[in-house]
Amino acid sequence: MDFDAPYSRKGSYSVKHDGLVEKFGLTGEDWLPLWVADMDFPSPQVVKDAIIKRAEQGAYGYVGGYQSQYKGIVSAWFDGRQDLQVEKKAFLVNDTIVAGINRMIRTFSQKGDKVIIQTPVYPPFHSAVLNNDRELVCNPLKKTATGYEMDYDDLIAKIDGKCKLLIFCSPHNPVGRVWRLDELEKLWEICSRHNILIISDEAHADIVYSGHKHINFLNVASQAKESVIVCTSPHKTFNMAGLQISNLIIPNEHLRHAYAKMLTREGYAEPNIFALVACMAAYGKAASWLDELLVYLEANRDFIAQYLAREIPQIGYHKPEGTFLAWLDFSALRLAGEKLQELVLRQAKVVLNAGAMFGVEGNTFMRLNFACPRAQIEKALERIKKALS
Ligand SMILES: Cc1ncc(COP(=O)(O)O)c(C=O)c1O
Repeated sequence: MDFDAPYSRKGSYSVKHDGLVEKFGLTGEDWLPLWVADMDFPSPQVVKDAIIKRAEQGAYGYVGGYQSQYKGIVSAWFDGRQDLQVEKKAFLVNDTIVAGINRMIRTFSQKGDKVIIQTPVYPPFHSAVLNNDRELVCNPLKKTATGYEMDYDDLIAKIDGKCKLLIFCSPHNPVGRVWRLDELEKLWEICSRHNILIISDEAHADIVYSGHKHINFLNVASQAKESVIVCTSPHKTFNMAGLQISNLIIPNEHLRHAYAKMLTREGYAEPNIFALVACMAAYGKAASWLDELLVYLEANRDFIAQYLAREIPQIGYHKPEGTFLAWLDFSALRLAGEKLQELVLRQAKVVLNAGAMFGVEGNTFMRLNFACPRAQIEKALERIKKALS
């Protein structure tokens, strides 16, 4: 696929492009949106073909009879790409990961219990805990000269008998870490010692760059299959978040039944028919498309590093090991909070995510999504450079 080809998503009900008025009151044409974590590329042709074929069938009644074929395709993807061997029944189809995390909080903890997250992190982790009346415990990542790492001492110090869950982000949005086995083992050891259930959100697992390997949390230790839940979806990988389908991997039967009961109680029955056929086409037929995409995204990631080093060295940037998200640090420019957002938005007319949304640690940061044609990124960086001069 030609990922450089200009591609407009305007007028397609895309929040990234068409939501600018509703979200920010931005009217007019001149905005460069590099915020929301979806891609400005079309999904693989095989996904589009599957949706069109199903649409042409013409009847859109209740869904069923797909389990065996569907789970065969999904589990083969995880076996092939992540060396994960679990029984097919361990996979539960679900709507979105965010809805899943909210339900898991309700299923596996009580009001007033504590839930740990590692900030700065994906904003719905914060809101899922707070909206379900659980107590939020932040275990901030440690910033080092080369990027970020987990702070195990802080984690241990904060754990008490009320801590029931840890929502883990792997690879990590927004800092872009792809966690090593020794890091995951250490986290697992601490959580299992304190009976804390790990909910590992692996939404970005397929977007990993050379020299790094995503490790599915269920492969961290033989006992992990007892007390870890892994959340996955084809949304980021194949640009299909609008379809709303995810796969939760819950090998522990007791946990799986409890979650399935919560799904039923909340009225979720079957996936949307278009999401179902799209997911099967993506995992079944689009592996080579993803391999091509990764080459392009890695070059975008490196382009940003080169541009910033040459033109705006005051902006701090560690190349992400995974995800298509660049976590840009403006602290050397003494820019933070609303002042930083205003400058990038109103002067540069570039729409990024404000770092503060991810936790107080993100106050001097902005998150730039580089899953778009390279020319767009260059234009955005040029505008930011001009606004800063
Ligand atoms: C870590 C993480 N989890 C989940 C999601 C969203 O997943 P879903 O669309 O399945 O809710 C995102 C989207 O940016 C994400 O970054």
